[in-house]
Amino acid sequence: MLVPLIAIDGPTASGKGTVAQRVARALGWAYLDSGALYRLCALAALRGGVALDDEAGLAALASALPVRFDDDRIELDGQDATEVIRDEAVGNAASRIAALPALRAALLGLQRGFRRPPGLVADGRDMGTVVFPDATLKVFLVATAESRAERRYKQLIEKGFSANLADLLRDLRQRDERDSNRAVAPLRPAEGAVVIDSTHLDIDQTVAQVLRAYRHCVRR
Ligand code: CDP
Repeated sequence: MLVPLIAIDGPTASGKGTVAQRVARALGWAYLDSGALYRLCALAALRGGVALDDEAGLAALASALPVRFDDDRIELDGQDATEVIRDEAVGNAASRIAALPALRAALLGLQRGFRRPPGLVADGRDMGTVVFPDATLKVFLVATAESRAERRYKQLIEKGFSANLADLLRDLRQRDERDSNRAVAPLRPAEGAVVIDSTHLDIDQTVAQVLRAYRHCVRR
């Protein structure tokens, strides 16, 4: 039997990560943060001196990514990388290399390996369109650019990073542009996706909507 899976895609800072983690916890399922894999590749490239446009070099790096997920912690090459991959510089590099088809292909097997019983909640840009096209439920989570920039700002400040709201809004628009217009796996709602606009919803309300949509689709 196919392992049930909820795919949650959407633009940067739409709250996908937090929502996906809470949904996974509520269902007792595993959680895949696919963006973390792109961030880890970016970090490994920056550290290893691999150029961000060296497609073959990046794909080789991605296919043998020395990564370990342990509860809430992420290790790269035996070193804790949980916080450092959240840095905006790493995020921007991740968004650049994510446009490279060979790198995306190299990460497919790793991502699909996370699908194990009793279920998986996967968040990213192409979970419902490319990686898990047979997902039980596909969600496309959106919010206005301004509200996303404000959320990202608060998140960074809380974590002790310095941040500037105007810079964040500009970077976020650039990232939206890049994620939506790339040739491979562009950001768009999967066919049949439930679109949830969280601009005026808090996290609990958004999680409740996803769980309601899941109950609705398993009842059908
Ligand atoms: O925090 P934010 O939503 O900006 O980023 P993320 O989800 O951690 O992903 C980092 C970058 O990886 C994004 O800017 C995307 O360009 C890319 N990504 C992707 O192309 N496909 C995915 N499934 C997940 C992330």
